[in-house]
Amino acid sequence: MTISMPTLPYNAAALAPVLMPASVERHFTDHHCRYVARLNELVASGPLADATLDEILRRAAPRGARSELFNCAAESWNHAFYWRSMKAGGGGLPIDAMRAQINSDFKNYKNFAARWKKAAAAQFGGGWLWLVYDVGRLKIVTTKDAYTPILRGLQPIIGMDLWEHAYYPDYGAKRDEYADRFLNSLLNWEFANENLVKAKVSGMIDRTVGPMHAPAEAAVAGK
Ligand SMILES: [Fe+2]
Repeated sequence: MTISMPTLPYNAAALAPVLMPASVERHFTDHHCRYVARLNELVASGPLADATLDEILRRAAPRGARSELFNCAAESWNHAFYWRSMKAGGGGLPIDAMRAQINSDFKNYKNFAARWKKAAAAQFGGGWLWLVYDVGRLKIVTTKDAYTPILRGLQPIIGMDLWEHAYYPDYGAKRDEYADRFLNSLLNWEFANENLVKAKVSGMIDRTVGPMHAPAEAAVAGK
């Protein structure tokens, strides 16, 4: 098996009452684990059988959403990052290096939070919301479907799943409430700090091997 099956970094009940245990368990097993299992089926006995997830992503990226291999690899990566972006008792004001960086790039936390929630609400359909580090500053970006910012040389700091399966069980159509609770009670600022420090050390990495958003023909193909 090329890619290890994931494990949650906490108990499925740890994020309650923001995300209920059954919701987290279903999201993890029915979505994340299935993407990883299918990814391993797709690469088994082929030229990518011993490749890392990052290598598979870069090889599959040119075909983007038209490739099941890309979708499974990207969603495997995105979900692993998402779980680590949250923690029990998280959220609230940023700490340490993130506090200074947020104040520098968004003026203050209140402005950052407003822009985060606005971006979450503006995304049409499934996708992801990211806080990324790009050329020395933080930015909020969204990606469509399975697309992941690492393929554009952007360095993820925090990721939030915007697919309906992530919030419908607990919030219905109230994606804004999900985004608000994520900020106030889940966001893992320690993880964000670790990623920011790593991003500043590694600098800009040119991994632009595919579009961040699916081209129109790929969206129509839906594969
Ligand atoms: Fe998901």
